[in-house]
Amino acid sequence: MKQAPIAIVAGSGIDLLPLLDKIEEETPFSAIPALQGTTVAGHAGLFLRGTCQGLPVILQSGRKHVYEGLSYEQVVAAVDQLQAWGVQGILFTNAAGGLNRDYTPGTLMAIQIILPWPCTRLSLPDTLVMDWQSPSLDEQGGYAWVHGPCYETRAEIEALRECGGAVVGMSTAPEVQRCQELGIKTAGICCVTNACDSGEKLTHDEVVLTAQHTTKRLCEVLLQDIPEFAAFVTGSA
Ligand code: HPA
Repeated sequence: MKQAPIAIVAGSGIDLLPLLDKIEEETPFSAIPALQGTTVAGHAGLFLRGTCQGLPVILQSGRKHVYEGLSYEQVVAAVDQLQAWGVQGILFTNAAGGLNRDYTPGTLMAIQIILPWPCTRLSLPDTLVMDWQSPSLDEQGGYAWVHGPCYETRAEIEALRECGGAVVGMSTAPEVQRCQELGIKTAGICCVTNACDSGEKLTHDEVVLTAQHTTKRLCEVLLQDIPEFAAFVTGSA
């Protein structure tokens, strides 16, 4: 029987194309009615179906966000599409701000748990637990999810730290929630693009630029992780 593919989702500014040794099919978001294009810079909006080290992998470049004014169903439509292609495990990558004062731009952190900020129009649980964590990374911690699109004030940064967040970002939580609803296994790696305490005004362009600079190391980590995550997903399916 043919092995089910795993999916890798590339966040803002993260180009994971070097991971694929073969591309069999390209599907733009615009070809899928529920996904119709993408509006955020640094998000291509494309699925590439192929192989990584001979293993079936679907690479998703770009994603939908709650801050685009979309509904939960619209934000998670990419997960639904991946499931329709037979995916049983998704490894999410994203750009995030460092709440942990030791995290400098370029730090890669495996997500252990997601802590969704409660005051939004989405009803997400207090905590989402990831199924698998990269053994290639020294850093592991909590991803505080916020609605966005504004970056956080000092008071919000303190509050998110108090809640146990090591990093903060605006994606991944709705998609992981959908995976849990569908029984899809999850893992996540954050690329820290900025220290939340830096005191400097942050822009999306800077986030994208720093993510781009970290992509090479992220690809090295993922090349090690993909076979292990695929084995975990297959073994627990
Ligand atoms: N806050 C929220 N989302 C982010 C940040 C941040 O500081 N950096 C990258 N994505």
